[in-house]
Amino acid sequence: MQTHEIRERFTQHFVRAGHTPVPSASLILDDPTLLFVNAGMVPFKPYFLGQQNPPFEHGKATSIQKCVRTLDIEEVGITTRHNTFFQMAGNFSFGQYFKEGAITHAWELLTGSVEDGGYGLDPERLWVTVYLDDDEAASIWENKIGVDLSHIQRMGMEDNFWSMGIPGPCGPCSEIYYDRGPEYGKEGGPIADDNRYMEIWNLVFMESIRGEGDKKGNFELVGELPKKNIDTGLGIERVACLLQGVDNVYETDLLRPVIDAAVELTGTKYDAGVHEDDVRFRVIADHSRTGMMIILDGVTPSNEGRGYILRRLLRRIVRSARLLGATGNVLEVFMNTIMDTMTPSFPEIAKNRERILRVALAEERAFLKTLESGTHRFDETVEQLRASGAKTLPGQQAFELHDTYGFPIDLTLEMAHEAGLDVDMDAFNSAMQEQRARAKADNKAKKHRNVDESLYREWVDNHPTEFVGYSELEHDARVLGLVRDGDKVNEAAEGDEVEVILDVTPMYAEAGGQMADRGLIRVGDTMLQVHDVQKIGKKLWVHKATVEHGGIGLGDQVQAEVDEKWRHGARQAHTATHLIHAALRQVLGPTAVQAGSMNKPGYLRFDFNYTEQLTDAQLQEIATITNQAVDADFAVNTIETSLSKAKEMGAMALFGENYGDQVRVVEIGGPFSIELCGGTHVEHSSQIGPVAVLGESSVGSGARRIEAYSGMDSFQYFSKEAALASGLAAELKTPTGQLPERIAQLTERLRAAEKEIENLHRQQLLSKTGEFLDRAETIGAYKVIAAKLPDGIEAGDVRTLANDLRGKLEGEAAVIALASDNGGKVPFVFAATSAAVESGIKAGELVKSFGEYVNGRGGGKPNLAQGSGSSADGIDAGFKAIRDVLGA
Ligand code: SER
Repeated sequence: MQTHEIRERFTQHFVRAGHTPVPSASLILDDPTLLFVNAGMVPFKPYFLGQQNPPFEHGKATSIQKCVRTLDIEEVGITTRHNTFFQMAGNFSFGQYFKEGAITHAWELLTGSVEDGGYGLDPERLWVTVYLDDDEAASIWENKIGVDLSHIQRMGMEDNFWSMGIPGPCGPCSEIYYDRGPEYGKEGGPIADDNRYMEIWNLVFMESIRGEGDKKGNFELVGELPKKNIDTGLGIERVACLLQGVDNVYETDLLRPVIDAAVELTGTKYDAGVHEDDVRFRVIADHSRTGMMIILDGVTPSNEGRGYILRRLLRRIVRSARLLGATGNVLEVFMNTIMDTMTPSFPEIAKNRERILRVALAEERAFLKTLESGTHRFDETVEQLRASGAKTLPGQQAFELHDTYGFPIDLTLEMAHEAGLDVDMDAFNSAMQEQRARAKADNKAKKHRNVDESLYREWVDNHPTEFVGYSELEHDARVLGLVRDGDKVNEAAEGDEVEVILDVTPMYAEAGGQMADRGLIRVGDTMLQVHDVQKIGKKLWVHKATVEHGGIGLGDQVQAEVDEKWRHGARQAHTATHLIHAALRQVLGPTAVQAGSMNKPGYLRFDFNYTEQLTDAQLQEIATITNQAVDADFAVNTIETSLSKAKEMGAMALFGENYGDQVRVVEIGGPFSIELCGGTHVEHSSQIGPVAVLGESSVGSGARRIEAYSGMDSFQYFSKEAALASGLAAELKTPTGQLPERIAQLTERLRAAEKEIENLHRQQLLSKTGEFLDRAETIGAYKVIAAKLPDGIEAGDVRTLANDLRGKLEGEAAVIALASDNGGKVPFVFAATSAAVESGIKAGELVKSFGEYVNGRGGGKPNLAQGSGSSADGIDAGFKAIRDVLGA
């Protein structure tokens, strides 16, 4: 049974049972605690917690969610069931059916006949586990479903109690396993062997809320959910593996074509008895799909967070393919193959093919360059080790190759092996561990900067803030809460930094790239200056403020006021951001996808995925289209609607929206710009004023940034530029329009003058030949000129002078040694006349020994040699040593 049919049967089974089918959310949700969506329930979290009412007719939903888990990336291909990307099919009940319903639905789909829409699995081969003391679930399995008691096993917190690994909804679970037969491992059920008994479905009985701790059951339960819910997750890939009769999840219909493509490309056989090779093929298949799906949802490679994971995945593919024998580029073939197999289930891939390829190929090019420079570094290291007779590559060097050059350790190991060296893996591992500890500490520090949401829980649940700031800038409000230094307090006094929770607010909280409003909170003589506003759980506005005068207490009736000037600037900048986005897509085409933005009064920046630098002409065109849109005085409309309606309207949105959300669409000039956006905007585009595009730059591989000013800041920028130009014009006594030519002229003259000076220097130096000849000493059998030249003489001139002197002394046995201090560099040249060479002098050797004194190296022929050093302090000592040699 093909994967798309497995998906379809799942959805139909639950639709028949009254569930609303919900499309997969993006892999990237607006949740700082989560790199990628890693379970089917994630988009439903607010419904489990009771923060929002589930918008599903019968309180039941079903979805097939895209998921990425990259914690066990090293396991990929080694075990038979670890995919970094997978599709989790789930059914969800929000306060409707519970354990019995979940168990019955699952069993019917798994064992129902293929003719009736089921998967037709043999009930005798199914095993189940339940949480230790969950007699209720065990009894349903035994008595209601009829599973033999010997096939029901009990497991502890670690296995049969599910949570997202962070504070939030959780509960005991019951898992369903399939016995793949004795060839896969030993008997005894999932407790004995989880390879032979493959887990296919997890039924979670969501009823509690957990606190801090790790995923492995070391956490406390801090409360009960308002209702008892069901969250289940069936691994589509694992079911495909069973129903397609293949050995592992990498050989199913969606991934096998990538393995086949890799076989063709590398000339190496799959499944030919070489385990390492097979693992590499599976890594290629798995990572190609995950990488492609992550790019699809808007990630580009970088050195942190999601971007780093993508980078690692793509590089592992390239590396694995090279180890299998590929020599050239590989990602184009793999990406095209995986896009072909995945498009039937994810039709949006079709529209994004070009962009996905562009991002992947740019990363491949970058990595191949890295490989080149890393290999160079590796060769140098090996040469040094060989020279010193060492047989082991120190762990620190292997770590440096990994850390600085992006060399995976397996690459270093293999290259070291080829060079006849071992690698000190213990030292390498401990360097890695240190780095991990550092990263962990960093993460922790970051977490602490994140708020402890439990503090605000009560307000989030019971007193969400009413935001009135789209239409009003002032409003009466009541103080519902005060937080100082992380503790709830009843009042705050003059000078305190305090967080204020109000029942109503006109102040915009930072979101969607727009910085928070500034403003005041006042009552009587009391005045608080609000310098930041942040949202918690999308529902609670937290005003961060300084008490400037007086004091404030819980229950106070206050006046909340937005700083009008600030808001005016914020609206201009935010609408300008939309105009630039629209202009950018007109100029670069729809593959330039937004990657992030920031705007505040007077300034905005806009990041987008694009692999090439923009030309001046493109930038100019973007600026022109943007300002024409301002000039056209387009109306700016906001429309509240459902996500699906917004998409029908053609609204652009990539991240963060959940199914069922009411969304806000901002439309400027009809089709000119339509975006999902919760920000504050001007009413007519002309209110933005001029937009000054400052330029564009790179922000990591595959992403670029445009920066601009808006409103009066643009005017100030333009007038500063104009003042600068007229200042220059006055200084250069030329009309502003002729500045470029004038400056070009001046630069040309300057260059000519510099050349002239250089020539004069040289002539001056050469004219001193006589002086140098006078200073010649007689040492042993030789006439010797050993001289430090004036500072700042370049290598070429030192050489000319040496040649010149040698010419003058030809006929005698003479040696000339010259050096100069040229701004940190020390060029030195040694010359020997024919008679000197005949008597055994080798300038090349003299240069070598001199080099040691000036921290340099050099070489050449017996009659002329030169080198370069970096330490002028050693020049005198070097000459002395040479004199000693010649005199010996
Ligand atoms: N949330 C559970 C899991 O991810 C079931 O969907 O396994």
